Amino acid sequence: TETASEDESRPKLIIVSNRLPITIKRKSDGQHEFTVSSGGLVSALEGALDPQEMPSIWVGWPGGDVDPDDQAHVAAELVAQHALVPVFLSAELHEMYYNGFCNDVLWPLFHYVPLQVVTLDGERKFDYKYWAAYTTANQRFAEAVLSVYRRGDTIWVQDYHLMLLPALLRRKLRHTTRIGFFLHTPFPSSEVYRILPVRREILEGVLAADLIGFHTFDYARHFLSVCTRILGLESSHRGVEFHGHFAHVGIFPIGIDPNLFLRTLELPLVKARIEELRNRFSKERVLIGVDRLDYIKGVPHKLLAFETLLKKYPEWNEKVVLVQIAVPSRIEVEEYRKLIAYTNELVGRINGHFGSVEYAPIMFINQSIPFEELCALYHVADVAVITSIRDGMNLVSYEYVMCQREKCGVLILSEFAGSAQSLSGAIRVNPWNIEELAAAMHEALTMSDREREVKHWKLYRYVTTHTASYWAASFISELRQLRDTPGLQPST
Ligand code: G6P
Repeated sequence: TETASEDESRPKLIIVSNRLPITIKRKSDGQHEFTVSSGGLVSALEGALDPQEMPSIWVGWPGGDVDPDDQAHVAAELVAQHALVPVFLSAELHEMYYNGFCNDVLWPLFHYVPLQVVTLDGERKFDYKYWAAYTTANQRFAEAVLSVYRRGDTIWVQDYHLMLLPALLRRKLRHTTRIGFFLHTPFPSSEVYRILPVRREILEGVLAADLIGFHTFDYARHFLSVCTRILGLESSHRGVEFHGHFAHVGIFPIGIDPNLFLRTLELPLVKARIEELRNRFSKERVLIGVDRLDYIKGVPHKLLAFETLLKKYPEWNEKVVLVQIAVPSRIEVEEYRKLIAYTNELVGRINGHFGSVEYAPIMFINQSIPFEELCALYHVADVAVITSIRDGMNLVSYEYVMCQREKCGVLILSEFAGSAQSLSGAIRVNPWNIEELAAAMHEALTMSDREREVKHWKLYRYVTTHTASYWAASFISELRQLRDTPGLQPST
């Protein structure tokens, strides 16, 4: 890729996100190893950037622990080879900012799992020291952005980790510098958002952006009504004015890079693996689940519904398996550890009850798997099951569709995932209704070829047109046009 240093004169796009697309891990011999990061944000942005269009540079936290003595040379390597600018945070700051505030306060609240300010055993989840850490971390990101910023550059801030960043940057940059902000999670209803003790500060941080993007109409609507109810601001569907600055609000549903999946399925290695898997599952139909092991993904709901399927429709006994890939995530946060324990217990119970020497109904894979293996599994699966209790978008639903050109497999999709608003070819379910979910699994497994084809092509058309690059290009072009359109100018 073209780096900023190769072409200093062209204005560039500065992307800022908590997580870089590469995570650094220190190996036992002290050397550093770079691995690809997981999660919707990274996979979408990776597929969206086109260096021919505009050079870009990506500022973010590189994961892992890098010794202070090694930071300078690791940073130099990342910038030179990958156009990535690492923001190193001490382990203590990172723990309080990322685990404490981002993942134990904002994440649950934005997904309608409201914050308990004080838990029954007296432990405080919302603690001002986490808030202070969030502020400090956002300042560190601001410094890193300013160190690479040149006049004419456009800045695009990503996600709930960096909601103070637009205001911190705005203080230092001219009003003509375009700053965009995109939220990858849901934005909750004002009745939930108002619980947040620092609700004003977070809003004020974001409102310094010129364009604020959401995946769906509902998230945008909630945001605008929060601005009215909490800050008393007047808003229209176009956005909201705050201290003489107009923040535009827009809806930009994210997508994937469809060609990446099509190309991967053509690789000889993947084709061979597909054959192997077909033989492996010659006697069984396959349901697939792929999730970061996060309580918002509703994995227990899925397991309980699968258990109900086996109970209520005994004809599926020994004839169907659920392959559940559960990628470990945020394991320092207690809720996530509890979830692992509960999920393991459910898998054990169901396999114990319905399994035999020949048959285990659930294959539970509690680790990430190589991308090629993932594509092969998507390809052989008859049904994909997505049961999020809330999810900003959920790109697994898109990925499955791209791997199903031949089989036209069925997608079961929670109505609480952002993608349910556009994927009308899916069987949409309420994951809290376990019986309904089990019935949807049965329906998917027995659907006629004709119906599967019709549904699949609806899905396929949407996924291939609403891609990651379309998402990024629409956001960036709208952000840049703001400068040139007098009617949309900030009022001061
Ligand atoms: C969600 C968030 C992303 C995040 C990803 C993985 O998709 O919106 O910002 O990167 O989860 O989570 P992690 O905490 O591992 O970055």
